[in-house]
Amino acid sequence: MTAADVIACCRDLAACSEEPGMTTRRFLTAPMRHVHARLTGLMEAVGMEVHVDAAGNLRGLYPATRADAWRFIIGSHLDTVRQAGAFDGVLGVVLGVALVGRLGGRRLPVAIEVIGFSEEEGVRFGIPFIGSRALAGTLDAAVLEHRDDDGCSIREAIVAYGLDPAALNQAIMEHRTGGYLEFHIEQGPVLDTLQLPLGVVTAIVGQSRFLVTFVGEANHAGTTPMTSRRDALAGAAEWIARVEHEARRIPELVATVGRVDVLPGAANVIPGECRATLDLRHRVNSARKASARLLTDAARQIGIERGLTVYVEPQLDQDAVHMDSSLRTRLEAAVLRCGYPVHIMTSGAGHDAMVLANELSTAMLFLRTPRGVSHHPDETVREEDVEAELKVGGALLDDLEQASS
Ligand code: HGY
Ligand code: MN
Ligand code: MN
Repeated sequence: MTAADVIACCRDLAACSEEPGMTTRRFLTAPMRHVHARLTGLMEAVGMEVHVDAAGNLRGLYPATRADAWRFIIGSHLDTVRQAGAFDGVLGVVLGVALVGRLGGRRLPVAIEVIGFSEEEGVRFGIPFIGSRALAGTLDAAVLEHRDDDGCSIREAIVAYGLDPAALNQAIMEHRTGGYLEFHIEQGPVLDTLQLPLGVVTAIVGQSRFLVTFVGEANHAGTTPMTSRRDALAGAAEWIARVEHEARRIPELVATVGRVDVLPGAANVIPGECRATLDLRHRVNSARKASARLLTDAARQIGIERGLTVYVEPQLDQDAVHMDSSLRTRLEAAVLRCGYPVHIMTSGAGHDAMVLANELSTAMLFLRTPRGVSHHPDETVREEDVEAELKVGGALLDDLEQASS
């Protein structure tokens, strides 16, 4: 595949969506079957053995020259946020398939496994990294009972997709797996501003997510005096403004309330309940945890002042992780060998690499995101940057081949 083919494939897969005219593809929804079918065809065409594991991860294995060889994973995620772009996640999977295709059938002394992770964004169940956590063996049984907006649990979604939750242990990575590489768009403006095609990731910032529920009392909007209301949405609104204020005040903190659900949700009814998500990120774990305490305490305090009951449900507490220095050094050498400058950077976005870095040597190679636009339909990539990723990926595979011979 050329870089243009890779881009065309990503744009084509973006049409596999729950919503017409835009790209929304959550964990184990119907359009994911189409993505699996199309990528399975591409993987098999380049000599890979393909299956979908019990967590819904698409796994293509390109066998090595020897049965006892170690395994190297190239992957990223196939799920998307709502109204996504065409490249976040899926590009890393298509690049993995393209790299195997460029081997032209030549086997290496290391097996290559290309993985399209089933769930990274946390959109459907509020729980991110389901796919990579299954690979790491850190998906505990309690997580399977989380329900989506339609009342379907993760366990039920797995069964409905034709998979077996009892087989989740078989999704755990093969014991001879020695490394993980993720190609991903930067999703920010740094490389574009510096006019650089590539970035080598040194660390990924930590993330915390919460569901904060304000419960007041629904009542008639026309007859209830302003002094005797317990308006859940008004309380949440005060808190959201406080979240933004604190995130502007605390250096390097980013905090987002990205979703608010209001019940019962009518123009002439005082809101009785408001559920809001909170996403918090900081490079320094202690600063993130302190900010999480500050902002969740603020919600409780506003609740006391307004006569609202406030529930705080933690959904993610993921520490910052560092990439493996020896694989990173090899990646940097490959970047230089291909004639590109090495720019090292921290990732503000979360990635499956965060989960896998705790299990095996992990590296990430970013490519420039024009105008830094991501999680948006205008997300795009430049063809020459995709070609740069392919060249560097090929050079890294050459290096791994020589080191394993
Ligand atoms: O939310 C994130 O950082 C990523 O895009 N999943
Ligand atoms: Mn994303
Ligand atoms: Mn992503």
